[in-house]
Amino acid sequence: MSAFQSHFEVSGGVDMTDTSTNITAETVEEIREIAARYPQARSALLPALHLVQSVDGRISPAGIEVCADILELSTAEVSGVATFYTMYKRKPVGKHLVGVCTTALCAIMGGDHVLAALQEHLGIGNDETTADGQITLEHIECNAACDYAPVMMVNWEFFDYMTPHSAIELVDALVADNPVASPRGAEITSWRAAERVLAGFPDGRADEGPTAGDASLLGLRIAREHGWSAPVPNVAADNQTEEAAQ
Ligand code: FES
Repeated sequence: MSAFQSHFEVSGGVDMTDTSTNITAETVEEIREIAARYPQARSALLPALHLVQSVDGRISPAGIEVCADILELSTAEVSGVATFYTMYKRKPVGKHLVGVCTTALCAIMGGDHVLAALQEHLGIGNDETTADGQITLEHIECNAACDYAPVMMVNWEFFDYMTPHSAIELVDALVADNPVASPRGAEITSWRAAERVLAGFPDGRADEGPTAGDASLLGLRIAREHGWSAPVPNVAADNQTEEAAQ
């Protein structure tokens, strides 16, 4: 049980009516451990919030309070950060967080159709969770993987060149607990497990699976075939130009 109890009522969108928490004395110690990695404790807020999500499945009121206490911040400051970034969730997330990119390039390549197909198949809307708690679905902004458009993410791992059909197959495999591996990353575990890694507690699987894929390496391969290389920067000339402009 948590040693912390929330007493503040307003926190920018965090559900204050849900005071449940799985934060334990061990969690508190781990947040202290994260804080000790930084010259200033407050710098540990982002990973500490990931740890809160790994145990509570969301940013909980108790999580805000314990972060504020350990990192010497106000609850308003913690809440302000937690409600600014979309990676921090104000409602409980299911076992798997499934995101579909619907920004320009992915949308052009079919991202909107992928999202619509998943919404219909799962019977949920954006930012909602299936009744069995397996899948939370959200649309996401550009994930800087446009060369693999349209992309999806499951627990922050990439899935490339998705179609409505492959997206439905993917979520069905997740719900059935079948092994699922990212084409450019690790085998999928759970969102909470991934959150623990983001908090700074590696699970030893960082090198699992391939990293850069063909689409990312294409330019490099073409350059090598043609013997192209980047021009050597003329630092002295650049400095002179900057000085002249001042
Ligand atoms: S637009 Fe989807 S990854 Fe860039």
